[in-house]
Amino acid sequence: MSELPEGALEGVRYAVFGCGNTDWARTYQAVPTAIDEHLARAGATRLVDRGAANARGDFFGDFDDWYSGFWGPVTTALGQDDEVPAPTPLLEVEFVGATRDPILRQNHLQLGAVVANRELVDMDASGARSKRHLEIALPDGMTYETGDYLAVLPLNPTLAVDRALSRFDLAYDAQTVIRISEGGHTFLPTDTPVTAGELLASYVELSLPATRKQLELLADATVCPPDKAALAALAGDPAAYTDEILTPRITVLDLLERYPACQLAFGTFLQMLTPLTPRQYSISSSPRWSTDHVTLTVSVLTAPALSGSGTYEGAASTYLARARPGTKVAVTVRPSNVAFHPPQSLATPVVMVCAGTGIAPFRGFLQDRALAAQEQGVTPAPALLFFGCDQPDVDFLYRDELDEWAEQGLVAVRPAFSVTPADGVTFVQDRLWADRAEVIDLVRAGAIFFVCGDGQRMAPAVYDTCTRIYIEATGATAERADAWMIEMQREHSRYVADVYA
Ligand SMILES: Cc1cc2nc3c(=O)[nH]c(=O)nc-3n(C[C@H](O)[C@H](O)[C@H](O)COP(=O)(O)OP(=O)(O)OC[C@H]3O[C@@H](n4cnc5c(N)ncnc54)[C@H](O)[C@@H]3O)c2cc1C
Ligand SMILES: NC(=O)c1ccc[n+]([C@@H]2O[C@H](COP(=O)([O-])OP(=O)(O)OC[C@H]3O[C@@H](n4cnc5c(N)ncnc54)[C@H](OP(=O)(O)O)[C@@H]3O)[C@@H](O)[C@H]2O)c1
Repeated sequence: MSELPEGALEGVRYAVFGCGNTDWARTYQAVPTAIDEHLARAGATRLVDRGAANARGDFFGDFDDWYSGFWGPVTTALGQDDEVPAPTPLLEVEFVGATRDPILRQNHLQLGAVVANRELVDMDASGARSKRHLEIALPDGMTYETGDYLAVLPLNPTLAVDRALSRFDLAYDAQTVIRISEGGHTFLPTDTPVTAGELLASYVELSLPATRKQLELLADATVCPPDKAALAALAGDPAAYTDEILTPRITVLDLLERYPACQLAFGTFLQMLTPLTPRQYSISSSPRWSTDHVTLTVSVLTAPALSGSGTYEGAASTYLARARPGTKVAVTVRPSNVAFHPPQSLATPVVMVCAGTGIAPFRGFLQDRALAAQEQGVTPAPALLFFGCDQPDVDFLYRDELDEWAEQGLVAVRPAFSVTPADGVTFVQDRLWADRAEVIDLVRAGAIFFVCGDGQRMAPAVYDTCTRIYIEATGATAERADAWMIEMQREHSRYVADVYA
């Protein structure tokens, strides 16, 4: 170009846009600048001033700025309509529903959206186990009461899905169409293309222990005689089945990996599994805070697998832990036990006992009480919260909020720290016993006693402690104390437990 004689490009019209990077400062835009000058010198007509984009800076922004002034001069010079072509091809996208719609309808689920998701535990501390606070915008028209549950249909963890794909030698995006013989029923999507990955992630439980019936089916599909015999023996011996399959929660997938000679078809595998079921979470907010948003307090289940191989990830808690703001989640509100709601009157005292994420509904109760007290301009009756966790600075969930409510006189918090026990208090039931005088006063004043959380260890221990407190306070026999506890639960709904084993 530098050698083109003057006038050689008469009639040529042009525009130059140069891409460069200021890291190469000496030569930045040198070539486009030279081309622009040579073209002009050779008589070509510059339609638009030279543009420049810097890859070190806002590269695409530089282009967009220049491009916005491009078509005006070009269409004028070329004598065309100044209709500016669309910057990108116009794609029309039609939404035709989701393949999971039937399973959602069946479970009365609709799509809500995650609004916020934050860690509540200091995960830098040794032994810390993640617990997360999620805010979810409910689907239109869905409402809730304090103490209700949110049911969530998860997607299976990638880890489990990938293992299953790999065992069947399938790619995630392998397209499948499931057809079913006439009169047959399945919860799987039929007569529509679905990827193998989607089937595994969205429709089936992958982590349940294999049943004895499933073991029989696996034995039938196994060609290698010793493996076949081993599977059949497990299926036929209840004690061995319990010890070797049920207790370590060995899944069909675990067995397929363990016995490669088992030639199970992918369709048979899917057919053997149970449908993915929604998990319930106590709502940890009050509709007085927001009628159409809920918060959840989720303990994230990640631990060395009981099977002894790899890591076990709980489906829903892992799914929720990883959900980002904006993620659509299939949810529905489910009512809790009628008695498991904050008392109608703020004049009723409450005692709440919980450990870990068992605090969820009680955060909702306290939020509700605080807002109701504000609305009514009254001071509520005393509320005692017994809360158990590992360490004060690690997993004391919602500590700041509780401190604030305590300062306002809305709650008195009685914590128990299992990693750093003090004065004989390790667990929440120990704290309950230590502070029994206060509890007795409140119960005599008509308090409702609520318990939430682990139903296997904590709830029975709390129940037992209450029985002991009654015996000590009244001198009653063990039988009378048992009868009183049952009466408090069944007749007066003043001992209300919402626990999960
Ligand atoms: C009424 C109700 C309210 C609840 N509220 C809350 C709440 O507010 N917050 C909360 O966090 N949870 C709550 N839960 C529990 C919650 O519903 C789920 O059960 C929990 O989150 C685990 O679900 P997941 O899908 O993550 O795990 P899943 O995939 O369902 O796995 C759980 C199963 O795995 C087993 N398992 C555990 N550890 C291992 C391991 N290491 N190896 C192999 N198997 C293992 C368990 O025994 C269990 O059977 C509530 C439950 C009920 C019934
Ligand atoms: N509505 C409901 O039914 C409902 C609502 C919310 C949560 N939950 C359930 O509640 C459970 C809580 O789990 P999480 O992971 O949040 O809690 P977590 O962190 O495992 O446990 C909370 C605290 O309880 C302590 N603890 C251990 N054994 C105890 C015992 N025998 N008695 C009393 N406390 C004991 C733990 O001590 P160590 O760490 O030393 O063991 C820990 O400090 C889960 O099963 C969850 O699904 C149920």
